[in-house]
Amino acid sequence: MNDVTLSSAERAEKLEGMGCKRKRVEDIRFVQGKGNFVDDLKLPGMLYGDFTRSPHGHARVKNIDTTKAAALPGVVAVITAETLKTVNLAWMPTLAGDVQMVLADGKVLYQNQEVAFVIAEDRYTAADAADLVEVEYEALPVNVDPLKAMTEGAPIVREDVKDKTDGAHGKRKHPNHIFSWAAGDKAATDAAFEKADVTIKAMIVYPRVHPCPLETCQCVASFDKIKGELTLWGTFQAPHVIRTVGSLISKIPEHKIHVIAPDIGGGFGNKVGAYPGYICAIVASIVTGRPVKWVEDRIENLSTTAFARDFYMDTEIACTKDGKVTGLRCYTIADHGAFDACANATKWPAGLFSIITGSYDFPAAHVLVDGVYTNKAPGGVAYRCSFRVTEAAYCIERAMDIMAQRLGMDPAEFRIKNLIRREQFPYTSAMGWQYDSGDYHVAMQKAMESVGYKKLREEQKAKREAFKRGETRELMGVGVAFFTEIVGAGPSRACDILGIAMFDSAEIRIHPTGTGICRLGTKSQGQGHETTYAQIIATELGLPADNIAVEEGNTDTAPYGLGTYGSRSTPVSGAATAMACRKIKAKAQMIAAYMLEVHDDDLEWDVDRFRVKGAPERFKTMTELAWAAYHEVPPGMEPGLEAINYYDPPNFTFPFGAYICVVDVDVDTGVTKVRRFYALDDCGTRINPMIIEGQIHGGLTEAYGIAMGQEIHYDDEGNVTTASFMDYFLPTAVETPHWETDWTTTPSPHHPIGAKGVGESPNVGGVPCFSNAINDAFAFLGSTHIQMPHDHWRTWTAAEKLGLHG
Ligand code: CDP
Repeated sequence: MNDVTLSSAERAEKLEGMGCKRKRVEDIRFVQGKGNFVDDLKLPGMLYGDFTRSPHGHARVKNIDTTKAAALPGVVAVITAETLKTVNLAWMPTLAGDVQMVLADGKVLYQNQEVAFVIAEDRYTAADAADLVEVEYEALPVNVDPLKAMTEGAPIVREDVKDKTDGAHGKRKHPNHIFSWAAGDKAATDAAFEKADVTIKAMIVYPRVHPCPLETCQCVASFDKIKGELTLWGTFQAPHVIRTVGSLISKIPEHKIHVIAPDIGGGFGNKVGAYPGYICAIVASIVTGRPVKWVEDRIENLSTTAFARDFYMDTEIACTKDGKVTGLRCYTIADHGAFDACANATKWPAGLFSIITGSYDFPAAHVLVDGVYTNKAPGGVAYRCSFRVTEAAYCIERAMDIMAQRLGMDPAEFRIKNLIRREQFPYTSAMGWQYDSGDYHVAMQKAMESVGYKKLREEQKAKREAFKRGETRELMGVGVAFFTEIVGAGPSRACDILGIAMFDSAEIRIHPTGTGICRLGTKSQGQGHETTYAQIIATELGLPADNIAVEEGNTDTAPYGLGTYGSRSTPVSGAATAMACRKIKAKAQMIAAYMLEVHDDDLEWDVDRFRVKGAPERFKTMTELAWAAYHEVPPGMEPGLEAINYYDPPNFTFPFGAYICVVDVDVDTGVTKVRRFYALDDCGTRINPMIIEGQIHGGLTEAYGIAMGQEIHYDDEGNVTTASFMDYFLPTAVETPHWETDWTTTPSPHHPIGAKGVGESPNVGGVPCFSNAINDAFAFLGSTHIQMPHDHWRTWTAAEKLGLHG
């Protein structure tokens, strides 16, 4: 790096800093099967836990007999709610201000709910013994329909709160009602509708889906009775929150709890909250004095840990006859299942759903959300999205298409007419959000040109004529989606979880030889943080990315942070990393000035060094300064070169994108082929274009899964009928379409390096784009809205309803 023959640009390239398609450093261990996941952990004397679960969707628990299970050789203990009551842990608080049963206490409220926890010498014995726990149930009427939850005579799900008139978020209006939450200006919106030339109204449903990470939720709890200390390894997206909440629940002092999240095989929101499995493993370790491992199987994961979405959005748009939107109104019923265990910032029980005006300049808008209890598993997490952004984006993007159809306008043209214009940024939406930056028209234009939009519509027109003449049984659909996200929670004035302000952190130590370590409060689950945080440091400090180790997930060593979900790592911890670097750089500059015998102000930064202004041959590289920091600091200065930053962002960041999808639908079989999918994303400054592309590919694949087949479905008796990959669609390489990716770059003005999050974007924009494409295929036949998921059978049914099968 000290090579004076290299130009600044050449030296910059060698650092592999921001903008470089640096290969993922974590893949060296992952592709060799050398990752270190929770289930790889084997501790001496370790026991295994497994659950007895409810076969009923709703039932009174009359009796639990554990005698036979306890008698099975190899079984060490069986825990029920009665056991947990002795340590006051039969119920636990949720992240949403509700309480949740750890093990069934008097009733079961959904199928597969945890009833007893069996601890045995090995996993097989634990599973066998779990089947031997004898439970006497009295079946109760079940409700799995959120639209019926607040009707008279609906089965009361939560007897423990049925008489409470107030919940965590205000007044309740029915025993199954959790909260009402509103945003926007109702009077102004109603007035806009009264004046409107054209209005549309549609019930837009985002079904219950599940993040289903490849690695299920799991933990190992090890309680040291001598020290009174608990070590908990787990698949935690937010290790510090688990430590704090764990301390509050268990009363173990927080400094005596060590939470470690090793490598994680996908999280997607599923691993943010706390589950009964964690509590039971901890209690089991305390009771037995031995480490206890709990690992979910796939059915348990799909049917009991945090679901996503389940929003029923009754949506209206008001518009002038020439296509200018004037108002948006949405009444939503949110199905939260049996406990309100949603992962949202405390103030927003419906998350960031009020981003519902999307990318469009709506003068007035109003949303009202009612959360309800049903006999379904709890959760309500942000599955690859920022709280409830995905629901909002799906809703507005479908509604915009429905309005375009009503007006007889092209959906892209209708969007262009209403997109927020560049000169309006920073833009304050009708809901009060301040969008930081954007150049929507340029993005839309680039997307349309790249796919040859005009030609596609001409082709579609010809195909529709041919279909009408009976020459083809295939329909062509062109889906357009333009989405705006809101990621990077959050400004602490607005966002907290259980009172813990949502900031994040980075601590950087530069060693004497110019290498270093960066520890953060976030936690990668596959996003490549070890690669990309090092790139920020490389650019900021002029040290090669390869010389920086990145460590997350150990609460003993990492500074306090709120974890990784909702694309918050880059907007918050990425910023913290840059700010910590700047503190280090400021100190290095003083050391350089001392060594070069000039004033600080006489120095300028050049890629990896401070050089004297006007005398570039006089310089000190960052590597030299690191060495000097440990033996040649100016008099009075502390030795060492390290810094910590807790970053509380001034605002969210607002990434956006323009997606276009082309499908061909066979009306006789419902089989849908995705001919093209083009995704243009703008996430501000791009740290690693290759990783961004990987994020987009992954998110689009999940979006494809959701739009084209995923649904956690319950029958009327409360049986979950989609609890395995036989029934729950997880796209493999065989089904996954080819993705075309593109970008524009509009930096965030308030982020130190101008970066916005990206991980969630493809899911947020992808789902409505697929759905719009399918709907567009049928639109000319008078169809206005076909609900997701668009699996072959449902698409065939849509064709049948339109009378296309003769
Ligand atoms: O919080 P999470 O890591 O899920 O989401 P993110 O902040 O969007 O980052 C996902 C990955 O994309 C990380 O490895 C980021 O460093 C990378 N990224 C990037 O290279 N450039 C951006 N502008 C945003 C994210």
